[in-house]
Amino acid sequence: MKAITYTNYGPPDVLQIEEVAKPSPKDNEVLIKTRATTVTSGDWRVRSLNVPVGFGFISRLIFGVFKPRQPILGTELAGEIESVGKNVKKFKAGDQVFAFSGAAMGCYAEYKCMPKNGAVSLKPANLSYGEAAAISFGGTTALDFFKRGKLQSGEKVLINGASGGVGTAAVQLAKHFGAEVTGVCSTTNLELVKSLGANHVIDYTKEDFTDNGMSYDIIVDTAGTAPFSRIKNSLKEGGRLLLVLGGLPDMLQIPWVLMTSNKKIIAGPANERAEDLQFLAKLAELGKFKPVIDRQYPFEQIAEAHSYVDTGRKKGNVVIKLKQNNET
Ligand SMILES: NC(=O)c1ccc[n+]([C@@H]2O[C@H](COP(=O)([O-])OP(=O)(O)OC[C@H]3O[C@@H](n4cnc5c(N)ncnc54)[C@H](OP(=O)(O)O)[C@@H]3O)[C@@H](O)[C@H]2O)c1
Repeated sequence: MKAITYTNYGPPDVLQIEEVAKPSPKDNEVLIKTRATTVTSGDWRVRSLNVPVGFGFISRLIFGVFKPRQPILGTELAGEIESVGKNVKKFKAGDQVFAFSGAAMGCYAEYKCMPKNGAVSLKPANLSYGEAAAISFGGTTALDFFKRGKLQSGEKVLINGASGGVGTAAVQLAKHFGAEVTGVCSTTNLELVKSLGANHVIDYTKEDFTDNGMSYDIIVDTAGTAPFSRIKNSLKEGGRLLLVLGGLPDMLQIPWVLMTSNKKIIAGPANERAEDLQFLAKLAELGKFKPVIDRQYPFEQIAEAHSYVDTGRKKGNVVIKLKQNNET
């Protein structure tokens, strides 16, 4: 089968297309024929090892000290089950599914095995393969941070970086949970963020949200420009800062902030739970959650897709489509 591989950390041109062995499912696994995958900010970070301040060494320990341990990137896919292991009853050949391999990666390939009890779910019928492939990364991150931040209906939530992969999911989920949502983004993305349901939008190129007298129960930072020192006066008493993007110095402050105020910083990697995928699939089916697709690229042009994602300016998600046998 064809896969996109890399053998060294670096710019997008470290990615190459090559023939690798097609996997076969173990007894508890399903084999998925990939129809679409994505390029996420996570793929960019693991490819380049451009990671938040203080995480360079630990990232090498996790992903490979001198070269990548897992040569195939990609955390999300959607496709069709081709075959199942002998202990698998809940899926069958022909099922249309989407899956999240998370930190194990390996989705930039024509076929991928996933454990039957892993993050695999039937594809919502109202979503395309491309849309379904893009449910997981932003959706599970936003959902996990809102769970850890104990978001309550009626709370005021500000999302800094509301137009990215995590931000577009966070706006929709916060609205679903009954929050009053303010999205912060650049001028070109104001309409997009409003269309996702944000009650208010702030253009960060024209207005500093920490300087307008408003305060919030929860501030989500996906852009890395809203550390506690900057936003502490914009958090209400009992408020929580959800640092989706934070460096080691931000995390070292967590105990001090907890001891000296009644505000809280929540940070660290998002948990990857199969049940969160099922929840997002259900919401998507009900029309209450829809991944935003910015651009789509063919599999063979994945390096170009990476170059675009590297800009840090994508709107929602970038999808990679795989050609099927009968397609030209
Ligand atoms: N903790 C975790 O487990 C976890 C999980 C997922 C992602 N992350 C991290 O979270 C970050 C965001 O991920 P993503 O997938 O959403 O990235 P993304 O899709 O590349 O989006 C980044 C967004 O940031 C916005 N932005 C840039 N500068 C900004 C500023 N000064 N103020 C407000 N918004 C700004 C951009 O919008 P404009 O073009 O409008 O500026 C863009 O839409 C990444 O660094 C990623 O590594 C962490």
